[in-house]
Amino acid sequence: MGDSLQGKVAVVTGSGRGIGQAIVKEMAAEGCKVVVNDLGANLDGTGTEGGPADQTVAEIKAAGGEAAPNTDNIATAEGSENLIKTAVDTFGRIDIVVNCAGILRDRMIHKMSWDDFDAVVKVHLYGTFGTIRAAMPYMREQGYGRIINFSSIGGGGGGPLGNPGQANYTSAKAGIIGLSRTVAMEGGRKGITCNVVFPAAKTRMGWSDDLEKAWDARASAGVVDATTVVLDKMKSGDLQPEDISPMVAYLSSEAAKMINGCVFHIMGREIRLYGEMMPERTIFSKGERWTVEELQKTAPRLVTYGL
Ligand SMILES: NC(=O)c1ccc[n+]([C@@H]2O[C@H](COP(=O)([O-])OP(=O)(O)OC[C@H]3O[C@@H](n4cnc5c(N)ncnc54)[C@H](O)[C@@H]3O)[C@@H](O)[C@H]2O)c1
Repeated sequence: MGDSLQGKVAVVTGSGRGIGQAIVKEMAAEGCKVVVNDLGANLDGTGTEGGPADQTVAEIKAAGGEAAPNTDNIATAEGSENLIKTAVDTFGRIDIVVNCAGILRDRMIHKMSWDDFDAVVKVHLYGTFGTIRAAMPYMREQGYGRIINFSSIGGGGGGPLGNPGQANYTSAKAGIIGLSRTVAMEGGRKGITCNVVFPAAKTRMGWSDDLEKAWDARASAGVVDATTVVLDKMKSGDLQPEDISPMVAYLSSEAAKMINGCVFHIMGREIRLYGEMMPERTIFSKGERWTVEELQKTAPRLVTYGL
């Protein structure tokens, strides 16, 4: 128990389960008043069952914290606006927004329906846009805000490195990085920071029968790479939602005011800061535009070698 978030009000989407739930508990233990948003959706986004939000609020209150439930669908404009309004109406302000809600509809792209693409992008990318858009006027007015958005790295998790079967999810998660960088630039002058987290934790999104099969296949083939190592830790239960929440609470605090537009990977006891995307090799044509013929000769020698 600490007081690093005393007097602050937070909204955490998808916080009735998994990583979001660990975050609201951590924040409440730091003195924050939290709105626990969870639609109670199935993993594929279908269904609504209000239980997880109410249950999590009851657990926070039993531990001495302050919390209010909300079951809005953050994938809609009305839902994300109403969620921020719930925080303001209930607790009088909004200081922190954590976008953690998520669903999955994995399929190879040739089998992915428009609906599967749309549903996943709507929850992850539009939901993140919607809550930020609704909270921003309050944060600008008070000259203070903390926004943390959940993305995902590749190698089994999707995101900017890509992942087979997750065209919808990786598009949304890569989009969240661009969105967050822009919000960081727009908000920085007003005391509002926006950062991104790539988590790895054993939740219903993080560990599935398919991942278990992938782990078994790698393990029995004797393949040991970064993916096997992560899956191994996941399978053994080493990577838990409670490993992610302390860093999110820290990024939400006054103390993290100089951290803006950054991407962190949090996995068990490891926290990694990701670097900027930088050009690796460059060639210049001094005179005319490059021709295809010249590129056929030059590119393999100077730019595309080793690919
Ligand atoms: N667990 C991992 O290893 C992992 C890896 C990479 C990224 N992530 C990301 O971390 C975040 C949290 O995932 P998790 O592992 O805790 O998953 P989870 O399934 O345990 O929790 C997600 C919650 O979001 C809720 N939700 C879904 N759609 C919603 C909507 N429209 N409105 C409100 N709530 C909604 C669900 O009901 C669920 O309780 C997600 O954004 C996920 O993409 C997780």
